[in-house]
Amino acid sequence: MRVTFVTSNPNKYREVRRILRPFGISVDWRRLELPEPQADSLAEVVRAKLAHIPRRRGVLLVEDSGLFLKGLGGFPGVYARYVYGTIGLPGVLRLLKGKGRSAVFRTVAGVRHGRSVWLIEGRSTGSIALTARGSNGFGYDPVFVPTGSDRTYAQMTAVEKDRTSHRARAMRGVGRKLVKARARRNGSA
Ligand code: IMP
Repeated sequence: MRVTFVTSNPNKYREVRRILRPFGISVDWRRLELPEPQADSLAEVVRAKLAHIPRRRGVLLVEDSGLFLKGLGGFPGVYARYVYGTIGLPGVLRLLKGKGRSAVFRTVAGVRHGRSVWLIEGRSTGSIALTARGSNGFGYDPVFVPTGSDRTYAQMTAVEKDRTSHRARAMRGVGRKLVKARARRNGSA
């Protein structure tokens, strides 16, 4: 089975390809920057991304991720990308000084196949480190410490990150659902 993953982010593509492989799903990468509307929820952003892509055959996959910091009332949330590009990790660490450091990373994956559209969310709970650590991964990985670990995602191997990451959880949900749908199609053939 093949899916087309539309993203401008090569790191996301590598993660998704790796996570879906054990399900027997090959991922074709369509490198495209999709507009992200001002929206209150990741789901809204994902629906807008799917709506932006012209109708095509096959299974289409997109995702959007956000970082929700408890000590900042959920900020930056859906605006994580903007915040990363403006104040960056040093700015986020400054904002968190003296505040609670609990954090949740969320990914909403969106799949479109013909007329059918569905979304699946994955979450990783954790905390924000006092300083950036590690050089693997991308984005907020150097400051995100998942629950149960004392290392940031940037200090882990890719396989270790996949055990708990928001994206891995969302994409494993996608993998399971696509495999079930394939079994139903084959069963009724
Ligand atoms: P996006 O809007 O889905 O591209 O992601 C929002 C922000 O979170 C961007 O700055 C990404 O670099 C960052 N981000 C997304 N996923 C991850 C991740 O798995 N680890 C660290 N940062 C991420």
